[in-house]
Amino acid sequence: MSVTAINERFIHELQEKVDIEEVISSHVNLKRRGKTLTGLCPFHNEKTPSFTVYPDTRSFYCFGCGAGGDVITFIRRIENLDYVEAVKSVAQMAGMPMPEDGYDDTLSKKRMRILAANREAARFFNACLTDPKNREAYDYFIKRGLSPNTITKFGLGYAPDDWRQLINYMKSKGYSEQELVFADLAIRSEKNGKTNYYDKYRNRVIFPIIDLRGNVVAFGGRVLDDSKPKYINTGDTLVYKKGSGVFALNFAKNANDNKLILVEGYMDVIALHQAGFGNAVAGLGTAFTPEQANLLSRYAEEVIICYDNDGAGREATKKALNVLGRTGLKLRVVTMSGGKDADEIIRTHGKERFAALLNESANKTEYRILQEREKYNLLTDDGKLKFLLAATQILAECGEIECDIYATRLSNELGVNTESIKAQIKSARSKLRRSDDERRRREQETMLSKSFEDKNNPERQANLRAARAEETLISSLMRNPDFYNKIKDDLSPGDFVTAFNKRVYECLADKLESGLDPELSLFAKDFSPEEMDSVTRMFHISKNLNNTVKECEDCIAVLKEKNAPVVSDVASVSDEEFLELFKKKQNRM
Ligand code: GTP
Ligand code: MN
Repeated sequence: MSVTAINERFIHELQEKVDIEEVISSHVNLKRRGKTLTGLCPFHNEKTPSFTVYPDTRSFYCFGCGAGGDVITFIRRIENLDYVEAVKSVAQMAGMPMPEDGYDDTLSKKRMRILAANREAARFFNACLTDPKNREAYDYFIKRGLSPNTITKFGLGYAPDDWRQLINYMKSKGYSEQELVFADLAIRSEKNGKTNYYDKYRNRVIFPIIDLRGNVVAFGGRVLDDSKPKYINTGDTLVYKKGSGVFALNFAKNANDNKLILVEGYMDVIALHQAGFGNAVAGLGTAFTPEQANLLSRYAEEVIICYDNDGAGREATKKALNVLGRTGLKLRVVTMSGGKDADEIIRTHGKERFAALLNESANKTEYRILQEREKYNLLTDDGKLKFLLAATQILAECGEIECDIYATRLSNELGVNTESIKAQIKSARSKLRRSDDERRRREQETMLSKSFEDKNNPERQANLRAARAEETLISSLMRNPDFYNKIKDDLSPGDFVTAFNKRVYECLADKLESGLDPELSLFAKDFSPEEMDSVTRMFHISKNLNNTVKECEDCIAVLKEKNAPVVSDVASVSDEEFLELFKKKQNRM
């Protein structure tokens, strides 16, 4: 099988299925530290661990030697294999047979057609909503407190009470009925040997589901009354897999808050955004999946779960805590009061009430300790000790008074001297400060200083300002693929100054053009393991950028040397200045 014969869809599924943590663990002894895992780097000699695995981006990076990449690159390097051999080896670990069909670009074309159909359908639904004929649907949203602006922002719509309106409209736009079935917008039925097609969504308000690239990948449709089923949703298609997306993450990621609010329903998310909580997201009707959890951990350090205050909500909270817990995200739970869900609370008591609930959750020490207590068997000494360590870890983040109270309680419960517990909290607290600050500072400084001499990009030193702009741009697009459409017309590969960065951009643009996520694994085919070091570094610096379209535009301006932004901008400063800026940004946080 040739290199091009391995199709990108397969690579995507492969790296989704294989657990990078597990693969690397069989070669490196890893310890979890929050969201990441660290160990001694297998690619250079070291005594203190600087090799880091990031399950959220499915990547690794060594702050000591700069080695980095995805799971395929790791195997390539450690087992000294070529690309195809490494893919085979990883596929075997994942128990996935290699694709027979080779490179299948009909699949990619079909995918593009579905995305285009979805976009057209979303336009149709939205036009129907604002059509005076369908006043009732529009009023439904207004009655539920949504403003016209919010309706536009979320692209809400209405599917008319008819069997073929969407089909007829879409046919006029050149889509076949079969294509609409592939997109799960129409349903095919066989009756008395006759084939019939009809609209899937009828007399329902429509919530388009938009992925991180800005594509409409699916829809949710809600009845206007109390009939059942309340919602119907897009099933699995070539562009959407149930349980894979997160509603409104396309907006919430730009809140740059490091915190996400997780709620149950579409309406909760929308109400929260309207009330100014731009970091609210929701799962999509199924139980929260590990894949969704991973996605959240790419964009936040902390998730605040605000599920409904009923039996089902509490059950779902438990499950979500479990799934999210494995990513190392910090978790909080809001106990809803004053209404059954976020939407109701905001509408009846105002946004201040919801803000207060969020605030309270930040101090829910009791809940978090309770969570820990459930994990251990307190009848054994070992269980007691582990629980105590976990509890003091939590208390290390709390104020003195709270610590006092809990230290006494724990002392009574576990029969351990109060003073020892307090001493333990104190040591956990200083360790927390030291490790957090120290690690961040060290990691970022090395990450940046490594870039002083990038062996993969020999032109970098001589064109530092441009190279910095290129890297910022690439990095921001990797994290915010939806920015691509907003800037692509202003930027051509020819604008790039350094050849290496130009290659990275071309590869990235190619993935984005064919509707793929800009995953690190997709670069592994076109870049050698050594080159992947630089690609991986770019992938990671996005966390330290502003992540705005404006920032990308500034970088483009630097490349074109017109309207060059002022010196305070990241793209235009020297490495030393950049480092300084960076420290300032850190201190502000
Ligand atoms: P409202 O009743 O309009 O406030 O709905 P909601 O968006 O608050 O939804 P609710 O809390 O009832 O349910 C949470 C989420 O579960 C919804 O947003 C849907 O994604 C999903 N869901 C709810 N009911 C159904 C259903 O009947 N079928 C499916 N497939 N999903 C559902
Ligand atoms: Mn609701």
